[in-house]
Amino acid sequence: MVDIEKLRSNAVLIEDLRRKARKRLPRIVYDWLDGGAGDERALEVNRRQYASYGLLPRYLAALEGLSTTTAIFGKTYAMPYGISPTGFGDLCWPGAELMLARAAASAQIPFVLSGAGIVALEKAAAASQGFMWYQLYPTRDPRITDDLVRLSHPGWTMRFYRNGGVPLMENWVAYAPRGASKGAVARLASQHYHAAQTWDDVAAYRRLWQGNLVLKGIQHVEDAARALSHGVDGIIVSNHGGRQFDKALGTLATLTQVVDRVGDRMIVMLDGGIRSGSDAVVALALGARLVFSGRCTLYGISAYGEAGCMRAIEIIREGIEETLMQIGCPQIAGLNRDFVRERPA
Ligand SMILES: Cc1cc2nc3c(=O)[nH]c(=O)nc-3n(C[C@H](O)[C@H](O)[C@H](O)COP(=O)(O)O)c2cc1C
Repeated sequence: MVDIEKLRSNAVLIEDLRRKARKRLPRIVYDWLDGGAGDERALEVNRRQYASYGLLPRYLAALEGLSTTTAIFGKTYAMPYGISPTGFGDLCWPGAELMLARAAASAQIPFVLSGAGIVALEKAAAASQGFMWYQLYPTRDPRITDDLVRLSHPGWTMRFYRNGGVPLMENWVAYAPRGASKGAVARLASQHYHAAQTWDDVAAYRRLWQGNLVLKGIQHVEDAARALSHGVDGIIVSNHGGRQFDKALGTLATLTQVVDRVGDRMIVMLDGGIRSGSDAVVALALGARLVFSGRCTLYGISAYGEAGCMRAIEIIREGIEETLMQIGCPQIAGLNRDFVRERPA
């Protein structure tokens, strides 16, 4: 049992959780969690971008009514921070994805379950008590995507071989030859993952799914405009944590342009490199309506299990509150670009 007071004094920053995670995890898992694509410049720039902005306080403002609550897509969240989708989260700790779902419910923040998640979608949805969003991994055979979307309350199930090996992707069994092994089912699924998506696919998802549709990974302002014209409800400006493409720009690079173009007609969100409440406030002041992180809570889980996950969220929450007080802006809705200044190194 983790002593929460001791945890609070041992883990003051997300970096403390990261250091502890590094000690606890096997090297191969830590590198997978912490690392980025190629020369890791995109990973680095996601972090560095927050060092190059400062916040300019407005003093003597009345600070009553501190509130971080945020309404997105008709639901109220306790703060404008959520958990990004991270596939195979259970590599960090058995049951990690359920921990993320429970922590999101308890903190009242969004949790995005990855389409490459391990836990059964139904279980995660139940644990999240309505705070879960689902990330679809599209498939080559559109009938499977159709099924996943239609069932997405929810039919996608993966079971993990406890003694190593590949997860059993139960939803894929129906599409595999009768009697196929778990490995063969997983290979079938991986052959079906369809990275090459086009705007026609987005149009098809829009027809298929009546709920709120969010595209993650948009960076160019014209792509944001195109998403809007396809009836998409929100975008997450993201380079997927610098894990896909080492020449990607930092996610703040195009945020204001995107917000200026579409921010009044769709929900613009962002992830990548956020490690503190003050980082979050910079992105929010630049116009993001909600920010996410994938690694913060996984560092917490890897370090201390579920208590570490809760602590990671608490560090961000306290940081957002302190920053709002410091800059004299007690409510999220009061944030704007005038609080932000570039801060040359
Ligand atoms: C271990 C790990 C697994 C990830 N898996 C996915 C995934 O399945 N789908 C996805 O869209 N992004 C995935 N991401 C990217 C995250 O959704 C998110 O964009 C990224 O973590 C944000 O950067 P941050 O970790 O610096 O906050 C993953 C990230 C990590 C660290």
